[in-house]
Amino acid sequence: MKGRCVYPGSFDPPTKGHLDLIERGANLFPELIVAVLQNPAKKNAFTVEERVEMLRRACAHLPNVRVDAFGGLLVDYLRQAGAETVLRGVRTVSDFETEFQMAQINRRLSPQVETVLLPASPEEGFVSSSAVREIAHFGGDIAPFVPAEILEHIKAGLSQD
Ligand code: PNS
Repeated sequence: MKGRCVYPGSFDPPTKGHLDLIERGANLFPELIVAVLQNPAKKNAFTVEERVEMLRRACAHLPNVRVDAFGGLLVDYLRQAGAETVLRGVRTVSDFETEFQMAQINRRLSPQVETVLLPASPEEGFVSSSAVREIAHFGGDIAPFVPAEILEHIKAGLSQD
């Protein structure tokens, strides 16, 4: 596929599911920007700076991937970044409903914006940031669900809950 693509999300924290999508997106597009949503209204487990740093570490092996933060509307960020494609992952039918609606809204806001939806890989299709937060909160092992490079940082951040 052509051009610069943006993979936006909260990534609170990044998971193996996110990394799977980033790796596949990096194979599909010449350039992929992973864009972390900066949303002061939402109480996140990790600061936006931490999430950007963790993603940079987890994506260090991918030369065509850049990690950035954004606030406000995604379509405004796309314009500013010179990108016209959004990448999102779909794990379940309910994900599809949300993603379908978001894609329609973004297209209405900015007609040249296209959304590419990738089905989650079967091995990672059940992973979510909220599950990782909950498992850590109750003392479970999160190692199978998050990239090895950032496991310790995530453990330390979530043990303070
Ligand atoms: O990882 P998430 O929380 O599912 O990501 C959601 C995200 C960041 C893609 C979405 O909330 C978003 O694009 N927010 C920016 C605000 C915006 O553009 N809203 C209009 C589209 S519904």
